[in-house]
Amino acid sequence: MFEKEVYIRRRQKLQASVKSGILLFLGNSEVGFNYPSNTYRYRQDSSFLYFFGLDEPDLATIIDVESGEEIIFGNDVDIDDIIWMGPQPAMKDKASAVGIKKVLPFSELEKYIKSAANSARIVHYLPPYRDSNKIMLNSLFGIEFGKLKEKASVEFIKGVVALREIKEKCEIEELDIAANIGYAMHYTAMKMAKAGMVEQELVGIMEGISISSGTMPSFPIILSQNGETLHNHMHHQILTDGRLLVIDAGAENNAHYASDFTRTLPSGGKFTERQKEIYTIVATANNLAFSMIKPGISYRAVHLAAVRVLAQGLINIGLMKGNVDEAVAAGAHALFMPHGLGHQMGLDVHDMEDLGENNVGYDENYKRSAQFGLASLRMGKILKPGHVITVEPGCYFIPALIEKWEKEGINKEFINFGKLKDYYNFGGIRLEDDVLVTEKSCRLLGSKRLPITVEDVEKEMA
Ligand code: GLY
Repeated sequence: MFEKEVYIRRRQKLQASVKSGILLFLGNSEVGFNYPSNTYRYRQDSSFLYFFGLDEPDLATIIDVESGEEIIFGNDVDIDDIIWMGPQPAMKDKASAVGIKKVLPFSELEKYIKSAANSARIVHYLPPYRDSNKIMLNSLFGIEFGKLKEKASVEFIKGVVALREIKEKCEIEELDIAANIGYAMHYTAMKMAKAGMVEQELVGIMEGISISSGTMPSFPIILSQNGETLHNHMHHQILTDGRLLVIDAGAENNAHYASDFTRTLPSGGKFTERQKEIYTIVATANNLAFSMIKPGISYRAVHLAAVRVLAQGLINIGLMKGNVDEAVAAGAHALFMPHGLGHQMGLDVHDMEDLGENNVGYDENYKRSAQFGLASLRMGKILKPGHVITVEPGCYFIPALIEKWEKEGINKEFINFGKLKDYYNFGGIRLEDDVLVTEKSCRLLGSKRLPITVEDVEKEMA
């Protein structure tokens, strides 16, 4: 937890950004995975952590933006809890550690909200994503489950996003720690991977590193020789010389900040000439994107510059054809990179995605495109100092997508479908780093960059 002044300051700024009413924050509760008391690892809601710091289940808070009153609703433990969990600080002491004076039992929340509603006060809430909180909101406000998201407060969402997206110094320190754990996960996998291992062995080693230095991976580890499947969580294959292994993984550190890196390794330690060709194109796109990141440029412009490198590279080796700018404008490159260049990152690996991707990555000046590929870009707006973003270009050969485009003649003037038949078993390549936008330019998060050149990767694996 940070100093209490950090939380007080954040709440004051949030209050100033919402005109009137009451802000309601629901923390997360425990979730059973096969019976109620055998729970998933507990994870507090990130906005709750950001404004209140308290990392435990069954809490709710309100901020009355007109009177300034702040209340935590939560229960003190009883003797049964103490027997199983040990002594716990009193709720009032926990509240005081984050600068809040008033504590009420959790059961008082309903009374408080109903009384606010009776006085015609506006109660703002954030879009819920956990079923228990949907049930709670439905019971507090009588809003149908299907309408809970659309009735969430846009003013509240915008206030939260404006604060959380600009990382403070204390947060950047945590993000650097998370990046260093992510580095250790990937570097160890790079050193250990060799033909004959099962993918699952590397997943276990990487996950173990994340748990021994932080809380867990920041999302389920993606690790597969079928890297053309963008989020592949099947880890049963034996590493085989001549194949490529995509590893997309990061850590959540003890303060719950995330990292997210991707490297693509030759399973047997040496890239083939064909793999080197595509790999070098993706690495060039990554480096170009990094060189462009600075305050004032839109991330959509950086994305478009990176995919232009991809399209030009594929034209050079004969897999695409025609004019590169026309190909990119038509979205032809998206056959090979159907996802966006990156997303914001912080307490969530896709930061604040629960608040709506467009509320986080877009604004009144930058609207999301509907074009295949560009539509998957989660961050399109102008970069500011304090933004943290991932840079993750890729190139994939997805047989089902290639066949669909060929059959339907999609972008046929830019794609050499005949030549692509030889690439059906290629897999995919993605190379991802985590970047902080600074006052004048940017820097990578973490102390060291994971090896990325063909030569460095092969050297580490040797
Ligand atoms: N690195 C996984 C993702 O961004 O979805």
